[in-house]
Amino acid sequence: MREVSGPTDAALALAHGHLAILPTETVYGLGADADNPETVGRIFTTKNRPANHPVIVHISQQEHIYMWATTVPDYAVDLGTAFWPGPLTLILKRLPRAGDYLTGGQETIALRVSSHPVFGEVLTQLAQEKNDPSVGIAAPSANRFGSVSPTTLAHAIEELGEYLTDEDVALDGGSSHVGVESTIIDATGSEPIILRHGGITAEDIESVIKLSQSESDVRAPGTLASHYAPNKQLRLVTHNELLERQPGALIAMSDVKTPTGFNRIAIPKNANEYAQMLYAAIRSADKSSESVIYAVPPTGGGIAAAIRDRLNRAATQ
Ligand code: TXA
Ligand code: MG
Repeated sequence: MREVSGPTDAALALAHGHLAILPTETVYGLGADADNPETVGRIFTTKNRPANHPVIVHISQQEHIYMWATTVPDYAVDLGTAFWPGPLTLILKRLPRAGDYLTGGQETIALRVSSHPVFGEVLTQLAQEKNDPSVGIAAPSANRFGSVSPTTLAHAIEELGEYLTDEDVALDGGSSHVGVESTIIDATGSEPIILRHGGITAEDIESVIKLSQSESDVRAPGTLASHYAPNKQLRLVTHNELLERQPGALIAMSDVKTPTGFNRIAIPKNANEYAQMLYAAIRSADKSSESVIYAVPPTGGGIAAAIRDRLNRAATQ
């Protein structure tokens, strides 16, 4: 793997059928040209990800959804207009272009427009290189299957560097400012259903369109009970429970005081900061000399729901 200095080199590598570690506003992604089944196939071997787990295709603009998806409901158009570019992924009925190699054989395709300017520029350059404005970059999070998502280039390289070839590339775009993955919406029915909580909150969505309370029949295999898991045990505790525990590494909001003997890893002042720091904190707690990691989940709505979701999965062995 070689680190490239700009979007043009990353786009060239993608156009030539190589993989690229790329920054997004949520987490770093492992990208491939979405029209190239061989390179997309390498995403799965590189991540050690089961082949039936579909990947998100990132496009440069909302209007290009019609080159990948069909039967786009009005509310999906409204959600795209409100939150793209940004941390929102829409699951739509696929067009044949969205082949089984992207969808894991499902009849749906996941589409997102990232707000990271570097990612946007890679798409623009790839579109020029391939002479096709509707190009897509297939990109799951740049971590090994089941492991913690990376929010910096160093963390992505730590996860995947050893599995990449000399011609694959990596591009730095700073720390991901959202810090947790995109919100995934099932947009195949008459009303939207949240499949994964993320950077766009349920409250944000409800300000545009009523969310359905029913269960989705779309399969989102990445949303497993155990995911984002550190090697050490992660225990979720309340502020009061913490005082009765043996010392360990601690991740909690700044209103939680650090009990004597605990190794405070992160001290976010609000839920947005908590989300930004979460994965880096889990990673550094995992590397610390402590044998147990404690996290006090944030309360309330908004992005706190996505943080609780990730903490619950990370704590499931
Ligand atoms: O923020 C994000 O979404 C990041 C950045 C890189 O964009 N990507 C990401 O990708 O989190 P990944 O592969 O780690 O998670 C994507 C989730 C998985 O749970 C997958 O099962 C679900 O999206 N998914 C993808 N395509 C789908 C489809 N056609 N139908 C249902 N679920 C789908
Ligand atoms: Mg992932």
